[in-house]
Amino acid sequence: MTILKATNLAHAFDYPLFADVSFALRTLESLAIIGVSGSGKSTLLHILSTLLQPKSGEVELFGKPIYTMSNPELIALRRHDIGLIYQAHYLLKGFSARENLEVASILSHQAIDEALLQRLGVHHVLEQKVTELSGGQQQRISIARVLTKKPRLIFADEPTGNLDSETADEVMQTFYDYIKEYESAMVLVTHDEELAFKCDSVYRLEHQQLVKVK
Ligand SMILES: Nc1ncnc2c1ncn2[C@@H]1O[C@H](COP(=O)(O)OP(=O)(O)O)[C@@H](O)[C@H]1O
Ligand SMILES: [Mg+2]
Repeated sequence: MTILKATNLAHAFDYPLFADVSFALRTLESLAIIGVSGSGKSTLLHILSTLLQPKSGEVELFGKPIYTMSNPELIALRRHDIGLIYQAHYLLKGFSARENLEVASILSHQAIDEALLQRLGVHHVLEQKVTELSGGQQQRISIARVLTKKPRLIFADEPTGNLDSETADEVMQTFYDYIKEYESAMVLVTHDEELAFKCDSVYRLEHQQLVKVK
């Protein structure tokens, strides 16, 4: 099943960023977008994940065009169906790691997944305040928070940016296991080519075009 379809996307801020961006993603697939800093990767991810309207073109998620959806439809889609992971995570700072997970659990009506926390290596730090955790632990809690919702599609922007390479590999493996187990899919934005080429397909954003390189 095609769960993401981008057709002829174009966007510009002060100058044109990209045009004619088209691709599709199916269930169980992972797709990486690489490109140098400033090439527009994050902007493209924002467009694909409902956060930014493109200058032209169309995005369909789960078979429905997203930029003509009503606000309640968009909110439901963001809350239940898509998981957004950024390098700068937005954990609630005054709260414990577990409380942060509970918010996601309540909003999405999904139980906290203890096995997932074990796999991410953060099961033993749940009672600590977010601010007491290392950057890498915070990042893994934020990933756990997103996966707690059991999204059908994951958007991840440099999700392993502040992790050492061993932990980064473990986190990526957690994503791949999750995709299989929950019949999900992932769009990964990264400047790390080694990480990118572990995905099923790889696209490079350069010269304002998105070119398939794997
Ligand atoms: N909200 C915005 N308003 C104006 N310019 C922006 C905005 N967001 C990004 N840009 C510009 O668009 C270009 C691409 O940014 P970005 O998509 O973040 O690239 P990447 O993620 O590949 O590093 C940059 O030159 C950036 O300054
Ligand atoms: Mg970026």
